Order: sequence, then C-alpha cells, then structure tokens
Amino acid sequence: MTTPSPAGTLSFFKDLHPPRSRFREDVLDGLSKPQKSIPPKHFYDARGSALFDDITDTEDYYVTRTELGILDAIADEIAAKAGSGAVVIEPGSGSSVKIDKLLSALDHPAAYIGLDISKDHLITACEDLAARFDGLEVGAVCADFTQPVALDDLPIPDGKRLIFFPGSTIGNFEPGGAKALLETLRGWLRPGDALLIGADRVKSAEILENAYDDTHGVTAAFNLNLLTRINRELDGTIDVGAFEHRAVWNADLSRVEMHLAARRDIEFTVSGQVFRMKEDETIHTENSHKFTIDRFTALAASAGLAVKQNWSDARGYFTLYWLERA
Ligand code: SAH
Ligand code: AVI
Repeated sequence: MTTPSPAGTLSFFKDLHPPRSRFREDVLDGLSKPQKSIPPKHFYDARGSALFDDITDTEDYYVTRTELGILDAIADEIAAKAGSGAVVIEPGSGSSVKIDKLLSALDHPAAYIGLDISKDHLITACEDLAARFDGLEVGAVCADFTQPVALDDLPIPDGKRLIFFPGSTIGNFEPGGAKALLETLRGWLRPGDALLIGADRVKSAEILENAYDDTHGVTAAFNLNLLTRINRELDGTIDVGAFEHRAVWNADLSRVEMHLAARRDIEFTVSGQVFRMKEDETIHTENSHKFTIDRFTALAASAGLAVKQNWSDARGYFTLYWLERA
C-alpha cells in the first residue's frame, strides 16, 4: 500500500514492514541453534532506534562522528560528482542525520527516499527532514532491505540516483549476506547512478571493544532491549536481568561480536516454546565487520561494483566509497 504520510508532509509512504510472524520465526529458529543467535535487524523497534541514536552520541562510539567529519570534508566533491537534481535513496536511514549534510551540499536534489525497517522512527525522521528541506520531495519506505524491494513500483522521480548507505551497516552482514545486499543495491542503480557507502576500518581491539561496550552502558541497553522486545511482542518470559552484554573483537573474522550472556542457568518461553541456557552460554546478536580498503574493494567487486574513489579520515578509522556498476 502506498499512502500519503499521516501528517501529509511526505510525498509517499510505502509500508512493506515484515509481519510479526517473521520476527517470531527468526527468534524461534535462532534460539534453537547450538550457538543461539538472532539477526541484528530485530534490534530496531522504536526503543532500539532511539538507543542507537544515543549510542552515536557516546564518546566511545567513534563511528558516527568520524563519518560525519569525512562528509564535511568531501561535501563539495560529492556534490560535483552527483550533479544537479539527484534522487537520493538511503537504505537503513535511521535518524537521517548524515543526510542533512549530503542534501545541504547537493545542487538542487530532486528527491530523498528513506528506507528503514523501523517504521515509526522512519516516518518521524523523514517528516522532520521534509520540514527542514522546504520544497524537497521526501518519500519513505518501511521495508527489510534483505528482502526484494521493487523500487520501480514506487513513485520515485526520474533523475540520477545516488544511493547513500552510511554507518557501516554493510558490516552487520557476514560476507555472503554483504555480497547479496550489495547486489541488491547494484540492482537499484542504472547506468550513471552511484552508491556512496561507508565502511568501518580495522583498528585496535581496545578501541573496537570500547566502541561496542561504551562506559555509559548505552550499547548494553541497546543489546538487552532485544530481550524486552521479545517479551513484549512474542509473549516471552525472559528475565532480562539474568543476561549481560558482551562485545568481543574476533580478529580471525575481522569483526566485533555482540552477545547476550546468561549470568546463571535459566529457562524461559517464547511464544510458548521452552528454551534453556547454561550459565555463560550466549545469544549472538550482532557482528560488525571491519574492513581494510583492499578487502572492501574486493567485496564490492564480487557484487559487480567498482570503487571509483574513496575518502578516509586522518586516523584511517573509517572510509567512504563511491561505487558504480562495474
Ligand atoms: N544510517 C544511519 C543509521 C544506521 S543504524 C547511520 O548511518 O547512522 C542501522 C539502520 O538500519 C537502523 O535504522 C535500522 O533500523 C536499519 N536496518 C537494519 N537492518 C535493516 C534491514 N534488514 N532492512 C531495513 N532497515 C534495516
Ligand atoms: C548499525 N550498525 C552499523 C551499528 C554497528 O556499528 O554495527 C550498530 C551498533 N551496534 C552496536 N553499536 C552500534
């Protein structure tokens, strides 16, 4: 269904939010595996999205600040490459903070389309953006971008597309999933279009583990909120206090792993199904892969995308890549 937004400030709102049965399946399947795991896309209910925003304000989470700094430095260059009248599409748009910088820099962008799984957060963010950028056409799509999204069925204006995928969200996928997602994004590009994507770099274990276990406990609250969501939406009986947040750098797989570890032997039900965990057993909730420029370039190439240019901060913490169809 494509409808005008509730407040009427969006040019369209398309609701493709996955049904709750998908969340239930993912959780029941994931908790039934020998190493329990739940896909990180399920962090993002309204509270999870708000907590992610709080993470980006913490001193320890250098990722957002660093990427915003790069965007500031390269705004004019990006504007020249994108040209006039670009149609900007942002998967995993979240609060759309970074898009302000991009849209302000671009020459008369024709439209902005935010796409995110977190419905209320998406609508609010896109409506706020429409209010800030008077005259800009703003649309919103609530969808899971790991599933097919038929962009051509949406009322997206013509014009050179710039797909903006910041935040290193690509790092939340294992290599096969990352390749598949890049292939999906490639499918949204026509000749002449481009993908501007951010990917976090490999750095010391200490910096990485602190970034994913900040001193204020915001990331811990973000991770634990997944259990609260399961209790609320899937009729769960999990004692959230019986779990603790863990963030561990896995050098072999070049990723920070987040887990929820049982503080004691525990039994609980989800949608009537019984689960038992031993003390110290974990639920693996997220991977954040970190890339060298070479490794990211190879990943992009495997999905039929060529790196035309890249920009990093002075410390080499983070890199933005300009990709086109190879
Ligand atoms: N782009 C923002 C937000 C990154 S947080 C930034 O750079 O800071 C990741 C965002 O992707 C969240 O808003 C989350 O809701 C969204 N997201 C995660 N998995 C998703 C999926 N499978 N489909 C659509 N959106 C997803
Ligand atoms: C959205 N994603 C790129 C964030 C990351 O850094 O992996 C999510 C996050 N998890 C813990 N802190 C931030």
